[in-house]
Amino acid sequence: MKIVHAFDDVRSVSDGRVGLVPTMGFLHEGHLSLIEAAKSQNETVVVSVFVNPLQFNEDSDLDEYPRDLDRDALLCETAGADVVFAPDVSHMYPSKQRATVTVGCVAEGMEGAHRPGHFAGVATVVAKLLAGVRPDNAYFGRKDAQQLAVVTTMARDLAFPTRISGLTTVRESDGLALASRNVRLDPDLRGSALKLSEALFDAADAFEAGHRAAESLVHIAMDRLVVGRDLQVDYVEVARAEDAGPIATIDTESFLALAARVGGVRLIDNVHLDPDTGIADRGNRLSGPSILYGGS
Ligand code: PAJ
Repeated sequence: MKIVHAFDDVRSVSDGRVGLVPTMGFLHEGHLSLIEAAKSQNETVVVSVFVNPLQFNEDSDLDEYPRDLDRDALLCETAGADVVFAPDVSHMYPSKQRATVTVGCVAEGMEGAHRPGHFAGVATVVAKLLAGVRPDNAYFGRKDAQQLAVVTTMARDLAFPTRISGLTTVRESDGLALASRNVRLDPDLRGSALKLSEALFDAADAFEAGHRAAESLVHIAMDRLVVGRDLQVDYVEVARAEDAGPIATIDTESFLALAARVGGVRLIDNVHLDPDTGIADRGNRLSGPSILYGGS
């Protein structure tokens, strides 16, 4: 496996079909599931590791974002990646970034409403990664369902030749969605953090029992979220999977998403709801502790 820092070097070591897994590093099993999917469908798997300043709203969040390239490189190698692309900020943004990508209403609700400019930052860096790496396939997690809608819309509307795939959420054994930020949850906060997935699973049960009214699923989820000093909810909403737009009756693929601050850590999670099958995708649980906590 090669570690490279410039787009030219990524392309010169790529061969055959290229699958790209964009990440901000501090990898966990959620990222590894994307690498595995990429490996099964491409000859060359490129994992980008870049903490993108453009998509952070708060300097403190950017500063505190965990980083460990040696650890990431080892995990990528074990998972079968061929190339780790770890550019410096000065390579991605050599001068002030004047051209940016916005995706209209897909980016306006939920995360977009709470994090102004966030999705323009995401869409811009993903556009740059797609243009620079030129992959055949790129892999994203449903954990960030609105981000997936933003990226899919951008790639379609701007005719990027890359096929975008969305993969199910990987969870810790207790149900908490894996996120690099989980390492910042102390044991006291973990109990509060768990309420998020429990709330979504309650609503998922109701969906599978036949509930289709978005409002009633939101209420069911809210009932679990006893807001207190440790838990502040930003939103609980149902949206269409394709464009993250609002939906009243779930008659097309949708997701129930929520965001909350647990202590100082902002977490997001969702369940994917498919009215054709009547199944709520709650993701896959690990059987033991995540590699985030030092295991292998
Ligand atoms: P990051 O948070 O590192 O996530 C990288 C990819 O892993 C995203 O597609 C995300 O949805 C996916 N992912 C994260 N947690 C997951 C989980 N528990 N299960 C499955 N997939 C999961 O998302 C970003 O980085 C950035 O916004 C990025 C797209 C790289 C642009 O900077």
